Amino acid sequence: MKRTPTIAQISIMLIALGTIAITAFVAWQRIADTGITETAEGPGLSAAVKIGGPFALTNHLGKNVSDTAYRGRYLYIYFGYGYCPDVCPTELANMAAAIDALGPQADKVQPLFITIDPERDTTEFLAEYVAQFHPRFIGLTGSLEAIAAVAKSYRVFYRKAKDENASEYLMDHSNFIYFMGDHGRFLTMFRGGTNPEAVAKTMAKYIGKG
Ligand code: NI
Repeated sequence: MKRTPTIAQISIMLIALGTIAITAFVAWQRIADTGITETAEGPGLSAAVKIGGPFALTNHLGKNVSDTAYRGRYLYIYFGYGYCPDVCPTELANMAAAIDALGPQADKVQPLFITIDPERDTTEFLAEYVAQFHPRFIGLTGSLEAIAAVAKSYRVFYRKAKDENASEYLMDHSNFIYFMGDHGRFLTMFRGGTNPEAVAKTMAKYIGKG
């Protein structure tokens, strides 16, 4: 028999959707404070503040890695969490599509998924999770402090969403994808939901400039 949602269930859903919209807006406001502006060409964004910096994390194979481990490669970075029901999977699929659209230049780009929920996103979990999206993805996790530090340097906002009724918690988080140069310098960032082909074209321009 088909279940028809009750008014109460619909109300809860609407409240949840409203909360997500407000959270996204607040996250956008916070990052907007950092002087983010559209770049003249392509869909990329520039920032008036420093974005990125050193990190010390653990990859999905259990190996300790720092930012210098990836020198010589462009970094294509997303912050999210494995239990995210919709936003993160959509963005990771978009990133995989952008990587494929880059063609041979993709070899110069390392896609990274950095969890903002290290309590659940263990190395074992991340190994299975990132492989679902692209074989070249590397998942990174770490201590709560290490994750807080890297998120701060990338101006990433995140927090546990309070919901006493749910057995599993959700995370609120900002939704930007970062593109860093092969020497670790910030190049540009993209809003979540940006067309993968357009992202690939922008990345190719930066890679072409060297
Ligand atoms: Ni998410």
